[in-house]
Amino acid sequence: MKSEIIKLLKKGDNAFISGQDISKRLGVTRSAIWKYVNSIRDDGYEIESVSNKGYRLISSPDILTLEEIEPYLKTNFIGRNIIHFNSIESTNSIAKKLGDSSEVSGSIVIAEEQTNGRGRLGRSWISPKHKGIWMSILLKPDLNPIDAVNLTQTAAAAIVKATEELGIKTLVKWPNDIVINNKKVSGILTEMNAELTRINYVVVGLGINVNIDEWEFPEDIKDTATSLKTYTNSSINRQELTAKILNSFEELYTKFIDENNIQASINICRENSAVIGKDIIIINGEKNIEAHVLDIDNRGRLLVEYTNGRQEYIISGEVSIRGKANYI
Ligand code: BTN
Repeated sequence: MKSEIIKLLKKGDNAFISGQDISKRLGVTRSAIWKYVNSIRDDGYEIESVSNKGYRLISSPDILTLEEIEPYLKTNFIGRNIIHFNSIESTNSIAKKLGDSSEVSGSIVIAEEQTNGRGRLGRSWISPKHKGIWMSILLKPDLNPIDAVNLTQTAAAAIVKATEELGIKTLVKWPNDIVINNKKVSGILTEMNAELTRINYVVVGLGINVNIDEWEFPEDIKDTATSLKTYTNSSINRQELTAKILNSFEELYTKFIDENNIQASINICRENSAVIGKDIIIINGEKNIEAHVLDIDNRGRLLVEYTNGRQEYIISGEVSIRGKANYI
């Protein structure tokens, strides 16, 4: 009901809409409307109420609910069902629970703040309130589980495309980091529940440092992490960026799943690669091996050459990499 009222107020384009009108349209009493409006105010909406005139929307909060993202959203199914939290441990953990239930493919879990955000390899992910995009996309693709690694590249490509539309050039540090100026601005955590030949669900978790100020990063990551705001020197509209990522993701995901075309995503990752042509350290458990990155192939594997001249294709998920000279 709150969502319906917000929509009506937004449609009113800052004009007054009477309590009677709202109550007629939505089939609830005027006193119920009053209670809902107060609760909407608690969510951060500024609403003026004047007797004999009704309600008028003055301003909307910077939150990532469907009502706020929808004006920018062009998708058919990705992000059309948004489960929004003010604060939650981890959106990936919630999305996995939803994956076990009958929640539809394309549903999004998004939070203003995560209290136990998770990164790859058991690391934590800092997710301060209203400062980033902390979201998980629940997918139920008809795909061989082996090919699910490519969903990380689909997400990485979607982030690169979306930031590019805002005039921000980002690069992909294969396979699941997005970087600016050699520093990490975004990470992707893809988790899967599958049988041998069949995927039950995949959760693609995206963390994007949007409006975090440089001084807000904890000491241990402040040399390797950055935010879009730090780069542009101005705050970014999180609602617009979230929608742009979802728009690009749906386009690339549909190509991958319906047309069996992962090339579109891989081309974006290759053309915007932070590692091709670089010397890197490949970290495989306890082992560190030096290599030079030659290319990313059509299946999304990293082609590297070791110091002894031997070449090898590396599959994402098996290893992590780090630049020889710096973070990249
Ligand atoms: C990494 O770089 O290690 C991956 C970071 C992924 C962070 C995102 S934030 C939204 C989603 N929920 C989580 O707990 N993690 C992912």
